[in-house]
Amino acid sequence: MERIKKSVTRGKAVSITLDGKRIKAYENETVGMSILAAGKRTLARSLKYHRPRSMFCSTGTCHRCLMEIDGIPNRRACLTLVRDGMVIRSQNSFPNAEKDLFAFIDKFSNYLQTSIYHHHFLKPKFLRQSYLKVLKKFTGLGRLDLHQPVLTIPESKTPRPLKKLKSEIVIAGGSLTGLSAALSAADSGASVLVLEEKKSLNGQLSEKKRSGLLDTDFLRYRSRLNELEAKVRDHPGIEFWQGAILTGIYEGIHLGVVSPDDGIAELPKTSLIIATGAYDALPVFRNNELPGIFSARLVEKMIYDYGIKPGRRALIWGSTKLACSVAEALIGAKTMISGFVTISPTVSGKLSEVAEDLGVKVWTDSVIFDVKGKQEVNSAIIQNKVNGKLKEVKSDLIVICHLQPRYELQLHAGCEMVFDEQSGGLVARTDSMLRSTQERVYVAGEALGIEKSNDLCVAEGILAGYVAAQDIGHSRDGALLEEFTSEMEKFAVLKEAEQISIDSKKGEGYVCFCQDVKAHELLGENETLKKEMLDDFHTELIKRRTGILTGPCQGKSCLCNFLRILAKSDDQDPSHYPIPTVRPPVTPLKINDLALGAHNGRTDV
Ligand code: FES
Repeated sequence: MERIKKSVTRGKAVSITLDGKRIKAYENETVGMSILAAGKRTLARSLKYHRPRSMFCSTGTCHRCLMEIDGIPNRRACLTLVRDGMVIRSQNSFPNAEKDLFAFIDKFSNYLQTSIYHHHFLKPKFLRQSYLKVLKKFTGLGRLDLHQPVLTIPESKTPRPLKKLKSEIVIAGGSLTGLSAALSAADSGASVLVLEEKKSLNGQLSEKKRSGLLDTDFLRYRSRLNELEAKVRDHPGIEFWQGAILTGIYEGIHLGVVSPDDGIAELPKTSLIIATGAYDALPVFRNNELPGIFSARLVEKMIYDYGIKPGRRALIWGSTKLACSVAEALIGAKTMISGFVTISPTVSGKLSEVAEDLGVKVWTDSVIFDVKGKQEVNSAIIQNKVNGKLKEVKSDLIVICHLQPRYELQLHAGCEMVFDEQSGGLVARTDSMLRSTQERVYVAGEALGIEKSNDLCVAEGILAGYVAAQDIGHSRDGALLEEFTSEMEKFAVLKEAEQISIDSKKGEGYVCFCQDVKAHELLGENETLKKEMLDDFHTELIKRRTGILTGPCQGKSCLCNFLRILAKSDDQDPSHYPIPTVRPPVTPLKINDLALGAHNGRTDV
């Protein structure tokens, strides 16, 4: 990987240190991007087996980029901006992530038992403390050096009072859907608060700064978003908080917000529209977490926003519009494309055109079954699901074009959920007016199903805003409702998500990346529990015994694949399984952000 010359306007050159070695970086780059641009793909090692870890999503979701930055462990390198003199250390590795002396542990990963933490090292009793002393050195995420100067900086004395939120409707998500919902609800007369986590309003899309590479869809998206944002900011009935996180719904009713202005509200006294969109998903196949397996949105960001060439030769997994747009980005970056892989039996006209123009193959009815490479990707083994034939394709970059709806807030609110592959995974059950099964909770846009057009996201936002306002007594012309629903029908051309494959050679693919849990470990525990007939707590017990869903990503990367794997082995529908508890916060916070009392001047709650 290297920087593409003259592709983007870079900030001032700065110098950072990675594991004692200097690296050139530029202001406004994230730590992760600067390290990738320096040609280093391995940012860290995994907790259990010391496998190489790199960025996957670049949106703060997958938590595979955790690094010690300026003495503070577990910071997401994909979200942290560099500064001159910054000191960065890779975690779980000695002496560094690229050459980790403990990498040999991985060779035994197939022989180590899943429940190792619970069932072993207990006897003889007198040796237990000695075992623990050694084991502790290999566990825990990151090391906190209490003598780091950064920890002795006095806390800010500026009070951050916790407000009771007064708005009738809170909207989580400030992209096309959320902003459309806000305008629609406010035009009906409701008071609205929009919370948007990111400081820039691009959804998860890259800025696409390189003018030669702008596609018309994206331009339309940006101009629509800008238009909506201007209207939202001008509207007297709407408050718009950027950089504000709806951290979760506590005890099913308390909405907690952390931002420059902190707040709390209560369901159902306040209505909630969830328009949080989708995040990147990864199928299960052997070596599915090797550096060089990147989400399409990360690859687009590397090229368009940071001017970094992500690899020499790419294999693209997916057949949706995301696959076409990432192919366009790769061509611009002069990365060769080996071809496209899709589980679908046929592909859209657009993808066929792109493949024909490039003179590359589309492997339909196929999945990536295995990836070869020690420290990073060298080639992929593609399997045809109809005839079982295998094909090896050389690539140093595998681009994953799969998405899944975000589901955490829906679960916190207690909404009834269904597993729907056409929508991309776990989604809330809603009626045709986008009301969930929980009173005054509504879901719209990609949080309710991926592969939606921008028009449909807007239409759903308008409908959700209208219905949420109407349900609390702000009625508007009934004819409008008919207009909105017919608009939605017009745009709701059925588009199916690329189905996520969970095949993996001998179950060796990883499902949980935070805790290194492989597919066969889940299946083994599933069989054991079936024999023990502990049906009621089945998924909860598998979680406790394997550690899946308990890592820093809080299940975002693994919950859907976990349910898919159980369902396939038991010949069930994934909706059959109880979903283990999903706890707030939805995204990591500083402990100080939650502190009450003297720390933050919060004495009012
Ligand atoms: S790459 Fe940083 S959280 Fe996914």
